[in-house]
Amino acid sequence: NSHFQGKSFLKEIDYTKAELETLIDLAAHLKSLKQQNIPHQYLAGKNIALLFEKTSTRTRSAFTVAANDLGAHPEFLGHNDIQFGKKESLQDTAKVLGSMYDGIEYRGFSQKIVEELASTSGVPVWNGLTDEWHPTQMLADFLTIKEHFGHLSGITLAYLGDGRNNVAHSLLVTGAILGVNVHIVAPKSLQPTDDVQHLAKQKAAVSGSKITITDDVDLGVSGADVLYTDVWASMGEEDQFAQRIELLLPYQINHELVVKTHNDQVIVLHDLPAFHDVQTTMAQDIYDKYGLTEMEITDDVFNAPYAHQFQQAENRLHTIKAVLAATLGNLYLPNPN
Ligand code: CP
Ligand code: NVA
Repeated sequence: NSHFQGKSFLKEIDYTKAELETLIDLAAHLKSLKQQNIPHQYLAGKNIALLFEKTSTRTRSAFTVAANDLGAHPEFLGHNDIQFGKKESLQDTAKVLGSMYDGIEYRGFSQKIVEELASTSGVPVWNGLTDEWHPTQMLADFLTIKEHFGHLSGITLAYLGDGRNNVAHSLLVTGAILGVNVHIVAPKSLQPTDDVQHLAKQKAAVSGSKITITDDVDLGVSGADVLYTDVWASMGEEDQFAQRIELLLPYQINHELVVKTHNDQVIVLHDLPAFHDVQTTMAQDIYDKYGLTEMEITDDVFNAPYAHQFQQAENRLHTIKAVLAATLGNLYLPNPN
């Protein structure tokens, strides 16, 4: 039996370095098959449920297109479409979905829910983002870095901004597993939780990765190969914007900050959506209230040739496809450990 078959993908620490590398390399392979129009229907005849309690562009599209490319049928179940959360319990929903679908994607607030879906449904469950972790994002991010630099070990990634959210926590722990040096550059009140720092240090001791948590921007970005940022208030905490703006403006990725890396090969990543101009209703609202047109990243950096966020976004498709193919597909993958 294939090593990954039947497994869920709930959080990065459930996977070893070798397993994560296998998924990243499988994604690169599936990307090249798609580019050459070579069919790869490893999930023919399967049905997968896509549960979304929060909105999504990339994750929903990536699961949908990946499922179709693999020959499976994806069914979108938004939070207004199904009984779960209003008329029906998590357990009952999980049992019903598990009896019909071959796998379930879940995006929502609580990590507990995605873990319970996995233990109750009896089918593989994939975490499409919770308040705690964003594991499928990590595969796309580290694939993008590997495509650009040719390798992962020894790369230094500096993440700036809200260092306590799902993306920051996932980057810290995943980088530590993979042997990537991670700097979280954030004000003290928005630095990773003690639990996550502890986990990352344990993983870094094994991989040789160097972890730095600092509120000092100059120190934090010096020598970085990758600059990474995310929104200053995540889904569900938009009421925090007012206080975050003042706190996080020194951590904005702008031209001056890029120069502070002293690295002319540096690249910039962002998981998206990004707040870099006034072209959205939420941005217009912020502009009207605070006079700001840019938050975590300036428009000039967002549009610079060294910014690779759209390659990163496309890679969500190939990496999510790798997770589906490995855990549910008719494809043999040996134990990489
Ligand atoms: N990066 C990401 O998860 O994007 P969506 O919220 O659009 O899925
Ligand atoms: N930290 C962000 C990531 C969005 C993909 C959020 O949770 O809203």
